[in-house]
Amino acid sequence: MPADARLADAIERITAALRTLVVDMGLSQQEWMAALAFLTDVGKADEFILLSDVLGMSVFVDERAHPSDGATTASNVQGPFYLPDAPLLEPPYRVADDGEPGEPMLFVGRVSDADTGSPIAGAVLEVWQADDGALYDLQSPDAEPHLRGRFPSADDGRFELRTVVPPPYEIPKDGPVGRLLEALGRHAWRPAHLHLKVSHPGYAQLTTMVYFEGDPWLDSDSIGSVKEPLVVALDRLQADERCDRPYALCTFDVTLRQTG
Ligand code: BEZ
Ligand code: FE
Repeated sequence: MPADARLADAIERITAALRTLVVDMGLSQQEWMAALAFLTDVGKADEFILLSDVLGMSVFVDERAHPSDGATTASNVQGPFYLPDAPLLEPPYRVADDGEPGEPMLFVGRVSDADTGSPIAGAVLEVWQADDGALYDLQSPDAEPHLRGRFPSADDGRFELRTVVPPPYEIPKDGPVGRLLEALGRHAWRPAHLHLKVSHPGYAQLTTMVYFEGDPWLDSDSIGSVKEPLVVALDRLQADERCDRPYALCTFDVTLRQTG
């Protein structure tokens, strides 16, 4: 009996699948060595998670762990740009000041219980996104936390955050995973999105992304993570009491399910 029977089972299944691949494709020794060299490069470049992303495995495993049930908000992958200690915001909640490049956006909605419909007060929303230049703060070595923050839902479950409309961006493509995409004739674009995590004691934590209708990359996201219920329309509005300049209104309601 192996020390770790489950691991032994997994290794046997992986090698069986690989043997089938070698036989069915008539793989040459050179091709096998090229595959090993590629994986070596992926490891050296610290791109194994990115490889899992572009193979669609990250989304697949996330969906298995958090299956869509139609009642709770659909889950999505966290991606590499999450920081656990994002700044705690003060009301009125905003992650972009007036000088932030990009189109102002109000991200509004309501957090509620998936079974009862009751509002969930004090749920902590964590938001992070790329700036108008298509970069996350973590991609600049000296940058302070930027376009990310934590803030609570109100007593009626509602929330409102001032930010800017995020742009589409390309995942890192200057390493081995980028070379793979190129060899497959695939692009590196992700549709514009806002990352969101919502937590409240007694409820299953939600990690997801919000996408915007009309984005040119919705049908060919390089990590395949677009889910139809997560795509929302942006309303273009004139300046009003909520925003002192024309802005995009993004309305996204969140439903959570109690644990246990
Ligand atoms: C992201 O959405 O931030 C992301 C996800 C996977 C790979 C790269 C970026
Ligand atoms: Fe992202």
